[in-house]
Amino acid sequence: MHDTHQEFFDKLAHEWDLWFTAEDLERLTRVVNRLQIVAGSDILDLGCGTGILFDMLRRKVGDKGSVTGVDFSLKMADRAHRNFPFENVNVVDADVIGLPFRDRCFDMAIAFSSFPHFSDRHKALMEIRRVLKVGSPLHVIHLMSSREISEMHHRVGGVVAHDSLPNGDEMTKLLTQAGFVHVKVEDKPGLYLASGVNPK
Ligand SMILES: C[S@@+](CC[C@H](N)C(=O)[O-])C[C@H]1O[C@@H](n2cnc3c(N)ncnc32)[C@H](O)[C@@H]1O
Repeated sequence: MHDTHQEFFDKLAHEWDLWFTAEDLERLTRVVNRLQIVAGSDILDLGCGTGILFDMLRRKVGDKGSVTGVDFSLKMADRAHRNFPFENVNVVDADVIGLPFRDRCFDMAIAFSSFPHFSDRHKALMEIRRVLKVGSPLHVIHLMSSREISEMHHRVGGVVAHDSLPNGDEMTKLLTQAGFVHVKVEDKPGLYLASGVNPK
């Protein structure tokens, strides 16, 4: 299957890394530092793009842990793989709604700047919960509020024009309906951080 979103992101892959400023990276580092990432853990990066999170994550998990990026744009996944040819970094070309992993194998899942593009949010969240170990969290991160993201996608137009990020109440409902517990959402100008834990 190759849908319009895959084509959209395939076309952007060659220039994607150029869009990040040093300030973006600094802010992203600050958010990642807030997550409780333990050395030796196995982390799933959903919609990993070219691997912007990989270096931060792989330093935190160390040699005994791993980072697995998933992206359904083959061009993004290829770049991520080329950018980070490390033993404990894996990149898989797959759709979030059908993750090619066994049940309960990750200690944390992160979706950075990718959640609004998932075509079926409930299915995606159920699938993410399936691959998380008991007690492990999902974090949905953006460096903008839900309103800022939705407005930005509207300005970009085309296939992403209506890719909105759920506001706090909507996201709490989505995460809860998918079976996550301890749901928290921070949604303010310059930061969106939604988290939920897989209870079983
Ligand atoms: C805005 S980009 C963000 C990439 C990366 N996280 C970053 O911040 O640089 C969104 C990424 O999510 C991927 N994506 C969107 N929907 C997806 C899905 N259903 N399954 C896997 N990847 C998906 C896209 O191909 C794209 O690379």
